[in-house]
Amino acid sequence: MARILAVGIATLDIINGVEHYPHEDEEMRAVSQRLCRGGNATNSLTVLSQLGHECHWAGVLADEPDARHIETDLEQHNINTGAVLRLAQGKVPTSYITHNLGSGSRTIVHYRDLPEYPFEQFKQIDLSDYDWLHFEGRNIEETTKMLAWAKQYAPTLPRSIEIEKQRHGIDALFGLAHVLLFSRAFAQGRGHADALSFLNQLPDNSIHTKRVCAWGEAGAWAMDDQAEYHSPAFAPAKIIDTLGAGDTFNAGMIDAMLRDLDLAAALEQACRLAGQKCGYEGLDFVKGYN
Ligand code: ADP
Ligand code: FRU
Repeated sequence: MARILAVGIATLDIINGVEHYPHEDEEMRAVSQRLCRGGNATNSLTVLSQLGHECHWAGVLADEPDARHIETDLEQHNINTGAVLRLAQGKVPTSYITHNLGSGSRTIVHYRDLPEYPFEQFKQIDLSDYDWLHFEGRNIEETTKMLAWAKQYAPTLPRSIEIEKQRHGIDALFGLAHVLLFSRAFAQGRGHADALSFLNQLPDNSIHTKRVCAWGEAGAWAMDDQAEYHSPAFAPAKIIDTLGAGDTFNAGMIDAMLRDLDLAAALEQACRLAGQKCGYEGLDFVKGYN
């Protein structure tokens, strides 16, 4: 069991299950609706907690009813909120998700109003309490400072970062973490049709890091300074829900690296875990996993 701190967001996800993806200007009924806590960092923590780790979240909450929904879920998953910044005003990040029950795909419209977690707050955290630090690649200016601070004051504490979306200046983060977890969308946005061509062209300042790129139903690829690796995806009997597959994959990577698995084995474990998740609705699927 390791102590893991993740910095990022928690969202309220409003998920409408639909029989087909709507056309523009269509009016249709959802066949199901689910409200749950989401957000990449907290999703990964939810899975890591089920894998037996002690999980802590550093993020922002507003004092409003939907925040209580989020906190209840975090409590139920034993995720510590001691490092959370609580604001009197504002609305928690809300994601409107159309879940196509036919294909399992998820289409997301985000509403974001709350300020991001600030470096000044992060500085107050005692990093000696943790075995692993995980970040989301957002809030670039502040995240750069947090990573640089951790690098200076806790140099041996492993730092992973998820690079999911293109954001101005995001490349500055690449040299500051030990593990870079890229999304397919990010690689494609940079003009690459496959993961390896993307990973291979990363700049020299990321050369000593483990570089990983998940690629949906094609599995995932990784590189370190020794070699390149690939794991296929492990599809469940039926795809039920792919929301949070990437966050689950990241949790699988972190768990495997904390247990000193090599990069090839870590990649396979993460793909198996994420594949298992795709066969379940939501993120409470880990029971029985080993
Ligand atoms: P995101 O949730 O960020 O869109 P991806 O689609 O890249 O993430 O998926 C992350 C991982 O989840 C993949 O590497 C794969 O292992 C697993 N996965 C995703 N979709 C499927 C699928 N249809 N079948 C099996 N595994 C999948
Ligand atoms: C899934 C997810 C959702 C959330 C959105 C945030 O990966 O974390 O739970 O609404 O992405 O970007």
